[in-house]
Amino acid sequence: MIITDIHIAKRLLEANALVAIPTETVYGLAANGFSGEAIAKIYQAKNRPSFNPLILHSNSFERFASWGISLPPQALKLAVMFSPGPITFVVKKSEQIPDLVTAGHSTVAIRVPNHPLTLQLLADLDFPLAAPSANKSGSISPTTAQHVEVQFGDEIGAVLDGGPCQIGLESTIISFVDEQARLLRLGGLSIEAIENALGSKVDNTMLINNENPQAPGMLSRHYAPVTPLFLGDPNAYAHENDFAEMAQICFTPAELNTKIPASLAFVLSESGSYSEAAQRLFAVLRAADACGAKKIIATLLPEADLGRAINDRLRRAAVKA
Ligand code: TXA
Ligand code: MG
Repeated sequence: MIITDIHIAKRLLEANALVAIPTETVYGLAANGFSGEAIAKIYQAKNRPSFNPLILHSNSFERFASWGISLPPQALKLAVMFSPGPITFVVKKSEQIPDLVTAGHSTVAIRVPNHPLTLQLLADLDFPLAAPSANKSGSISPTTAQHVEVQFGDEIGAVLDGGPCQIGLESTIISFVDEQARLLRLGGLSIEAIENALGSKVDNTMLINNENPQAPGMLSRHYAPVTPLFLGDPNAYAHENDFAEMAQICFTPAELNTKIPASLAFVLSESGSYSEAAQRLFAVLRAADACGAKKIIATLLPEADLGRAINDRLRRAAVKA
């Protein structure tokens, strides 16, 4: 059921039902973050492994402080500059936070999403919302209410429709559990922006190992379409010139292979804008999956700005050798 009334969403959440919510990054599958019963429904609906912790959402970091979770000074600096926005902080958890949210870890991930409807809803609730991306585990993240409705339908209470997501990539996750700030997931806020704000480099060694236990959700295969997706140049994957059965995803028109039929060619940004490419990425992955091609070839973007996070998602979408 697609709704636009936050009062209905509030009543459903207070009754421990699941409600998909719009954010600036991707749609989240939300439940009362203080209710074990409600949180358990998220894991069940998503088929999510129980060792993978959830992000808590509220409308301000003062609210989180009132629940015993506070940000260290460096994190606060980033929060002032970028929140509400596409950044998630991993910090020490408080007693009040159920172990089901953190999958038993002593840390918790918190974020203030930047979407007017959801900020209003969060302000009206007496509890934070636990919310992973509103897709089945391993599949492509949703950037419209319709994407969520198609995948979950009656399995959840409702989808609160707030229009298409403006950023289109999940939040950047950064841990402040140690002295040193550590990047755990590339996302909608670029490393460049974070490092400029902090005036120092951020440790990114946790990103290198996909199976690292600090970010258990960052499995190497994720965001995957059903059609096999490969990285590189379409010429390298053409057997007997089967270009007619191949879709291509690339950054700008310059990288398009002219042998690929126009109906199977997906350009992320005509003008070469990283933010436009990010905003369109998941919808383009869905369209490429549905266009009838037998394989999808994705050409990576330059490793700069949001190009890094887009490439991260494309690598995880790809078939592993
Ligand atoms: O933009 C977003 O972050 C979206 C919207 C809905 O807010 N949410 C989202 O949630 O992407 P999800 O569950 O798809 O990804 C959350 C990631 C997972 O990789 C999880 O392992 C990691 O955050 N995470 C959560 N709690 C953590 C913790 N305490 N320590 C380390 N990683 C954590
Ligand atoms: Mg996800």
